[in-house]
Amino acid sequence: MSCIIPIGGGKGGIGKSFIAANLGVLLARQGYPVVLVDLDLGGANLHTFTGMTRIKVGMEAFLNKSVKNLKDVVVPTNINNLSMISSVNCSMEIANLSAAQKNKIINALMKLPYEYVLLDLGAGTNYNTLDFFLSSYEGIITLTPEPTAVENAFKFIKALYFRKVKQVLGQNDFKLYSQQVEMSSNALEVTSQVIDSVLEKDPEKGEILLQELQKFKFKFIINQFRKTTGTKLGEKIEKVCNKHFYSEFQFLGNVCYDERVHDSIFSKNIFVNKYSFTVSAIDLSHIVAKIQGNREVSSLHSLERYERL
Ligand SMILES: Nc1ncnc2c1ncn2[C@@H]1O[C@H](COP(=O)(O)OP(=O)(O)OP(=O)(O)O)[C@@H](O)[C@H]1O
Ligand SMILES: [Mg+2]
Repeated sequence: MSCIIPIGGGKGGIGKSFIAANLGVLLARQGYPVVLVDLDLGGANLHTFTGMTRIKVGMEAFLNKSVKNLKDVVVPTNINNLSMISSVNCSMEIANLSAAQKNKIINALMKLPYEYVLLDLGAGTNYNTLDFFLSSYEGIITLTPEPTAVENAFKFIKALYFRKVKQVLGQNDFKLYSQQVEMSSNALEVTSQVIDSVLEKDPEKGEILLQELQKFKFKFIINQFRKTTGTKLGEKIEKVCNKHFYSEFQFLGNVCYDERVHDSIFSKNIFVNKYSFTVSAIDLSHIVAKIQGNREVSSLHSLERYERL
């Protein structure tokens, strides 16, 4: 089964596309078939990171039904084992997907015949972005060390929780339970009060809800890490998240700020290929090793479960 890794985060311009493209190249370099999917439908630019200028076919063809299967809009890149689905030709209307179109994309993503499917998401917390992120239990949240980005990352996680709880309970039940809690501006407070209320009034449903949230193993990366950044920031965020949310959070590592990222984008040359031996490229390869390590552990667990049956 392919591993779907959405790469999101509340804030714009923090390096989601940079991280997605470079992780894609590093995973492909290990020999895995990888597809990068640009799901920033209103601001698609992932193709530029991979050095592609003219894209003939992409997500627009799948959405306007001129192509039936999502795998038929996959185009190769000039990097071995790395393909992509671009959204650069999507119109403004397509950027505002209907729920049916969003579900059509999510269902098709699950069937893509690649070892790794990396989703580059847009900024913000609109429902389409949240649902793309929630399409996998293995999403990566990107942030930078700036307080504004940290704040937006927490907002993003709270929005994911709010959305997931609403999805599991359904519109009517969510309305019912949230009527009984004090609506504050804090999505996490509302969400935890809703969960507590469900657990109290309908323990069976409450348990299902908790189990669903516990399936998520969120990861996060601190990008544009600088010398002045506290070295323990990642660990601190991991601790806070593991304490306050019901899911598991894993800090995958820092990626250092490097002026040459700018140059690699201008020269349409992927950073980890052009500057392979820089600190930032090595940071990214450590993150890839962790992603692969996680995958091995989870397949070992599945094997153990299978053998016990
Ligand atoms: N580690 C880094 N070191 C230096 N510059 C970086 C680094 N990561 C990203 N950048 C710079 O930040 C800019 C924004 O990166 P990117 O486009 O990947 O962000 P994004 O989160 O995908 O933005 P958007 O929300 O608009 O999609 C890049 O153009 C690049 O110049
Ligand atoms: Mg982007």
